[in-house]
Amino acid sequence: MSTTIGAAQAVPLLDLRDVSRRFGALRVVDRLSLQVTQGEALGVIGPNGAGKTTLMNLIAGDVPVNSGQVVFAGRDVTDLPPQERCRAGIARSYQVPHPFVGLTVYENVLVGAVFGADMRESAARAHVAQVLQQTGLAPKADRIAGALPLLDRKRLELARALATRPRLLLLDEIAGGLTDQEVRELLDTIRAIRAAGVTIIWIEHIVHALLAVVDRLVALDFGRKVTEDEPQAVMADPAVREIYMGIDAAEEIVP
Ligand SMILES: Nc1ncnc2c1ncn2[C@@H]1O[C@H](COP(=O)(O)OP(=O)(O)O)[C@@H](O)[C@H]1O
Ligand SMILES: [Mg+2]
Repeated sequence: MSTTIGAAQAVPLLDLRDVSRRFGALRVVDRLSLQVTQGEALGVIGPNGAGKTTLMNLIAGDVPVNSGQVVFAGRDVTDLPPQERCRAGIARSYQVPHPFVGLTVYENVLVGAVFGADMRESAARAHVAQVLQQTGLAPKADRIAGALPLLDRKRLELARALATRPRLLLLDEIAGGLTDQEVRELLDTIRAIRAAGVTIIWIEHIVHALLAVVDRLVALDFGRKVTEDEPQAVMADPAVREIYMGIDAAEEIVP
């Protein structure tokens, strides 16, 4: 369903036009078109192997498209490498966190600010302090990243992405492996990031966590859009229920 948007926001922040990606004979993303409005939070669901992570890779530039266009803030970024897309305002977290394990939390985030946002070190330091506050990592700034427990490694993924000052943040199963209480804590942080004006695309298997944040859901299967609508409508869709049999969408996290 289309969302009502004002004239000033007529250009979507992200506009995927008919993008496809194959690996060998396998069509992993198959002629997918998708638009995300500035300020929106979009959830992406789908079974394992549906092409969700590949979709993120296509948006971030980690994997090139075989065909189609990736347009960001009105600019065709299809041929730009990941570093330049990052500078344009696209940041991501990885499904498997991969910080610089030997560096401290602070140093990891500083690297993001200096290289991802092209900031001079003095400006970067102030920005890093703010990002550490925002992600709840300020008390752990001096810890070695490789020794962090899982929730903090997830927070560090967020912090490293935020360090690059993104307009669009891509989250790939960031709540995976956390306890319910930890998911609640992470939700608070993600909501605050969104409230600060960052547009979000969030892939997540923990559907009740997604539903606590997103305005809209897209369900993927075999690299194609199954449906795209308000979250409750998507979860009630018979095709989605079939894919997600066993997942209790009514289960809710009380923030
Ligand atoms: N670099 C790659 N080379 C070959 N096959 C890949 C590659 N990346 C993903 N695939 C395949 O593409 C399909 C979709 O993968 P992925 O995008 O990771 O799905 P999801 O994140 O939805 O679980 C899977 O069958 C996977 O094995
Ligand atoms: Mg994945």
